Amino acid sequence: DDGDAVATPSGACETVAHRGFSAIAPENTLAAIDEAIRAGADGCEFDVYQCGDGTVVLMHDKTVDRTTDGTGRITELSLEQLRQLDAGSWKDKRFAGEPVPTLKQALERLRGTGCQPVIEVKMEGISRQVIDDVRALDMVDQVAVIAFSKTVVQEIRELEPKLTCAWLYGETIPGTPEQQADFLQSQARECNARILDLSYKILSPELVAELKTRRLGVWTWTVNEAAVMQALRRWGVDSITTDRPNLMTAESVGQ
Ligand code: G3P
Ligand code: CA
Repeated sequence: DDGDAVATPSGACETVAHRGFSAIAPENTLAAIDEAIRAGADGCEFDVYQCGDGTVVLMHDKTVDRTTDGTGRITELSLEQLRQLDAGSWKDKRFAGEPVPTLKQALERLRGTGCQPVIEVKMEGISRQVIDDVRALDMVDQVAVIAFSKTVVQEIRELEPKLTCAWLYGETIPGTPEQQADFLQSQARECNARILDLSYKILSPELVAELKTRRLGVWTWTVNEAAVMQALRRWGVDSITTDRPNLMTAESVGQ
């Protein structure tokens, strides 16, 4: 199959809320997801781990220490223990008692809203479980999965080719834009990815053009300034992930 990558559902450059609308609500909570929907984001990214009893839940760090009132490694805590935690107060006391959501709860919240769930799989060995949760809600056509791990991307691509799936990368790449694109294309081939989700810090207009010539989708993160968003759109990226999805309105990009 040598067709163009189906980089976004709309075909236009889309706005994806990062960990929900995390500038105004606690990251990776249902409150942040609700705010992303309310802001009209095209997608909502969130991070997942598998907790101690096998449930896939939303959490960015390996431990719950930074974003809840508890402590400990997420993989060693049961869902019952996670249910006791407050994942909102650290951000603002008006979010006190906000729970750690399960993947299924996050997907249910986004289902039918037009805001695409973008699941970042933060650990290896849980691809099957993630896909099972997506399938259980009949959302294979609506969801995207992203991961830094090529193993995870390859597994997802194999287990469910209908899922939109992008490989994440953020390290500086030496060489000319053409050499950079060669590197990225070979990495993408290794894990069968058709979409790259790259730190905006490593992008240039020439690199985006090279990747487009090679029919790879180009998503980018985490962009929090309107002027930078505007430039990236001009360069032709397909999707921009931001803590502030409200910045990328039609007015702020001058359309
Ligand atoms: O959208 C990709 C981005 O979320 C990756 O970085 O650390 O925010 O998960 P991080
Ligand atoms: Ca993430």
